Amino acid sequence: MKNLIPKGLSLQRRAKDRIPGITQLLSKRPDMFSYGVWPCYYDKAKGVYVWDIDGNKYIDMSIGGIGANILGYAVDEVDNAVIKAIKNGVSSSLNCPEDVELADMLCELHPWAQKVRFARTGGESMAIAIRIARAYTGKDIIAFCGYHGWHDWYISANIGTEDALGSHLIAGVNPAGVPKGLKNTAFPFHYNRLDELKKIVSEHKKNLGAIVMEPIRGEKPKPEFIDGVREIASETKAVLIIDEISAGFRINTGGAHLKLKIEPDIAVFSKALGNGYPIAAVIGKADIMDAAEKTFISSTNWTERTGPSAALATIKIHKREDASKHLIKIGGLVQKGWKKIAKKNSFKIEIGGMLPLSHFSFIDKKAQVIKALFIQLMLKKGFLACTSFYAMFAHTEENVTQYLKAADESFKLIAEALSNNNIDKMLLGKPSSTGFKRLVS
Ligand SMILES: Cc1ncc(COP(=O)(O)O)c(C=O)c1O
Repeated sequence: MKNLIPKGLSLQRRAKDRIPGITQLLSKRPDMFSYGVWPCYYDKAKGVYVWDIDGNKYIDMSIGGIGANILGYAVDEVDNAVIKAIKNGVSSSLNCPEDVELADMLCELHPWAQKVRFARTGGESMAIAIRIARAYTGKDIIAFCGYHGWHDWYISANIGTEDALGSHLIAGVNPAGVPKGLKNTAFPFHYNRLDELKKIVSEHKKNLGAIVMEPIRGEKPKPEFIDGVREIASETKAVLIIDEISAGFRINTGGAHLKLKIEPDIAVFSKALGNGYPIAAVIGKADIMDAAEKTFISSTNWTERTGPSAALATIKIHKREDASKHLIKIGGLVQKGWKKIAKKNSFKIEIGGMLPLSHFSFIDKKAQVIKALFIQLMLKKGFLACTSFYAMFAHTEENVTQYLKAADESFKLIAEALSNNNIDKMLLGKPSSTGFKRLVS
């Protein structure tokens, strides 16, 4: 069969020699999909469409810029706000007024918060939140649940054990390069497992500086869990940090914690906030956020203008269009469709995630081969698809119908290949590598 991505593969080979890990993000590494067939590089993206560097055009029904492009690609209204910012100078010796406007807007959306600091990426903004919490409380220990980035405070959980991050990130993460002195400063608990958090508290009560979690993960929060976490944070005088980097702006305009009635001390946003432009925000209660001045948190590029300009436009559109309603609807149609076509083609799959951030996994000993073949077949039909689906406001119901028809046909071919025992032979690329627990099953 003709290779559809000769330029893409050649660039991947060059990248392999020049960029350790090929890309800057695990979830965009081609082997997470199927090395050899996944296009990896894009030339252009608009609406729900992506053109790879070989000129192939796809409807993107995969990870939507890993959750960053909540409205869609190259949205004119956001881009025009950024272009205006560029024309007026993206940076200067002075600060941009958009910072103050965005801080006001975020505090209006989240009335419990009074102060804001900005950064540009999720992981670094979580590191800022942790620093502020430690500076405010004077206490070092962090209890956390879920994935929160690559920084030392988080990866240190694996020092002396490779299991701590196993069910939060991926198994076997090596904490190489993380100072050993950070051993026993960060301890994991599972979502909805108040008993595990209580155990950490009983062992480190006096030195607990922060409790960190996402507002919602694959499963819905139990009310006693949410109330219990808040109670423990207040009782131990630990800062409750809610990581909204993935969940924010999916089920409402703002943090999911508002809908779920969680009361944070700090909440952290990135990804969807700028619709693909780099921006991150740490919002919080005034007395806690003021600790940012007790310590040193400062960076040149946190003062550029495109990030806050994009965020202001994104929030405005999100609110005006009630975007989350559409994201929930589209995600619901996709989950329902997956269930239907899996049953029809006798596949056992497990579906998870909040509706706008859905994923499924094949329950089969050849799951990674099946996943790779699904990706390969869907690419041939003109879709970027995998086992995750991140809804964008630009997705239409017609996109979903077309996608599910293609997915159904692909499932049928895979089922035939499995029963004929020739699935490995059909694979043009490599089986998928296993990725983030949080993001890809
Ligand atoms: C909940 C959560 N926290 C933190 C991060 C890290 O954000 P970034 O990749 O922008 O550094 C992610 C990214 O997937 C995330 O989902």
